[in-house]
Amino acid sequence: MPLRPDLIEILRDEKAPIVILTGAGISKESGLHTFRDADGIWAKYDISEVATPEAFIANPDLVHHFYNDRRAGLHDPNVQPNAAHVALARLEAEWPGDVLLVTQNIDDLHGRAGSKNLIHMHGELLKIRCNHCDLLTEWPGDLAKETPCPACGKAGGLRPHVVWFGEMPLEMERIYAALGDCGLFISIGTSGNVYPAAGFVQVAHEEAGAETVELNLEPSSGATLFDHSTYGPATELVPAFVATLLEDGSGPRD
Ligand code: APR
Repeated sequence: MPLRPDLIEILRDEKAPIVILTGAGISKESGLHTFRDADGIWAKYDISEVATPEAFIANPDLVHHFYNDRRAGLHDPNVQPNAAHVALARLEAEWPGDVLLVTQNIDDLHGRAGSKNLIHMHGELLKIRCNHCDLLTEWPGDLAKETPCPACGKAGGLRPHVVWFGEMPLEMERIYAALGDCGLFISIGTSGNVYPAAGFVQVAHEEAGAETVELNLEPSSGATLFDHSTYGPATELVPAFVATLLEDGSGPRD
């Protein structure tokens, strides 16, 4: 059931804070693979071999190769923010209250679309950090275990600035504070398989009494936890939903 126009009007009048969670599905129509769909990244790679701290110790070459490939993919001129990314940037600019966008994605498409109040809870593909010193820096190109750190000069410590399985997602305190205070929580393009992100809907519902909305290609693992849901491609659903929130659309979709 979509969010009713009278509820939207109340949220707008109250200048209700909005928290949005996005996942790989929002970048699918920009040409980036999701993880758990049939053609997804985890159908080709084993998580335990490329996305854990243990994997990086056991086989740093393979881990670097995996992230170098994905980093290069972001520089493909065909990979651009799509209508869903753009609509969320517009929502942030035009909604009368605060809008926090929390993404699980490590691509840079939300930033390129213009979102500013943005948390990359699983890190960023175009950044690296050093295990030997406190370097955290932009890194557009390839990385190898022999690459010396530009700050401390040591090799072997540079790693992608991404959160691997078994590691703590970033900026959780800020995220939970916003969830506990929001009037509307929107989850977009995520399968709801990975915690803590998959639990945000319950925090927003139980702690803030927020309206909760799922916009996804298909019902996620946590679909029944949402008050409202609409299913279809993000490039159609998200601009239409943003238009209804900002009162310039043709009404909510079925
Ligand atoms: N529009 C909307 N949703 C889509 C689209 C689309 N065009 N295409 C696919 N989806 C949906 C799928 O139906 C699926 O429910 O996006 C979801 C993608 O789910 P996952 O591949 O599991 O991606 P995500 O939920 O972001 O994964 C979470 O797991 O391994 C990791 O760290 C990685 O951040 C990632 C985390």
